[in-house]
Amino acid sequence: MKEKIGEIKKLALELIEKAENSKELENLEIKFLGRKGELTRILRSLKDLAIEERREIGPLAQKLKKDIEEAISNKIQNTKYKIQNTRHRIDITKPGKKIAGGHIHPLNKIEKEIHDIFLSMNFSVVEGLEVETDYYNFDALNIPKDHPARDAWDTFWLKEVKCDMRQGNRGQKNMSHSTCRSLLRTHTSPMQIHYMETHQPPFQIIVPGRTFRYEATDASHETTFGQVEGLMVGEDVSLANFKFIIEKFLTKLFGEDVEFDFRPNYYPFVEPGVDVYMKWQNKELEVAGAGMVHPEVFRAVGYDPYKTQGFAFGFGLNRLAMIKYKIPDIRLFNSGDLRFIKQF
Ligand code: DAH
Repeated sequence: MKEKIGEIKKLALELIEKAENSKELENLEIKFLGRKGELTRILRSLKDLAIEERREIGPLAQKLKKDIEEAISNKIQNTKYKIQNTRHRIDITKPGKKIAGGHIHPLNKIEKEIHDIFLSMNFSVVEGLEVETDYYNFDALNIPKDHPARDAWDTFWLKEVKCDMRQGNRGQKNMSHSTCRSLLRTHTSPMQIHYMETHQPPFQIIVPGRTFRYEATDASHETTFGQVEGLMVGEDVSLANFKFIIEKFLTKLFGEDVEFDFRPNYYPFVEPGVDVYMKWQNKELEVAGAGMVHPEVFRAVGYDPYKTQGFAFGFGLNRLAMIKYKIPDIRLFNSGDLRFIKQF
């Protein structure tokens, strides 16, 4: 029995030493230590031995078991070490691997640029809610209930919510003599009201955000799109200031040779009202509505319209991006098509 143990030991250690990969080691482990392994058979037969013999052979067999286990684990460690060593050899002459990064959506990209431009002109950036009430979206902006101008903003109406869940200080009071129907904001202009209810002039802000229209889509119309609202209010803010800010903004965004023009238009919350047009695919594209804030709007927020003046504008974010990045169809923005996103 003693000799047998010696033989097994010699053979096992030799084979383990020679093993070239972990698969071979695994097989050796099974061969010697497995349930049907040679050593296991000896260990099992110990109980049949005479007590004297058992005392001698027992510890020898146990020691062998340990030795084999140790030899295998040493071998594994050494091979791992070698593998690691070759892996860590770096060939500095090889070109690097390109890391696949994500892409910034063109709307986020242009929004960031617009932020930076307006921040550099001392504007603050504030954000509003996507769910509004008709008071903020229409009434306070001088678009009363039965006014035909409401038709210009095809609206996604929501189920009624309790008025006291809404934000706004003065608006809350005003809402008692207005209904309180919820909707997805059709423009970012309601934030003009929220902001003026809680701040006193002078100030200048922009409000970027998502807006929603219940209307048919085509290459330049979407149901969900971005706007950037602007509002500058003080005692002597004039249309000349407005023109200056817009010119500065557009030249910073598109470069010195940008082409745009102003055309009169009607919006109930401004007087006079203006549109900003730019060229896109040889067509004229309206990129913003704007104007001098209407006295009724100042009245709705408790400002004195005889002492306060201001201009407001609302740029279509998608349309600016379409011109800047030469995007042929507004529906691409929300398409989720990676071939589109990966170009930015
Ligand atoms: N809110 C208007 C729209 O979505 C755009 C607009 C027009 C914004 C005139 C303004 C403004 O701030 O003064 O069509």
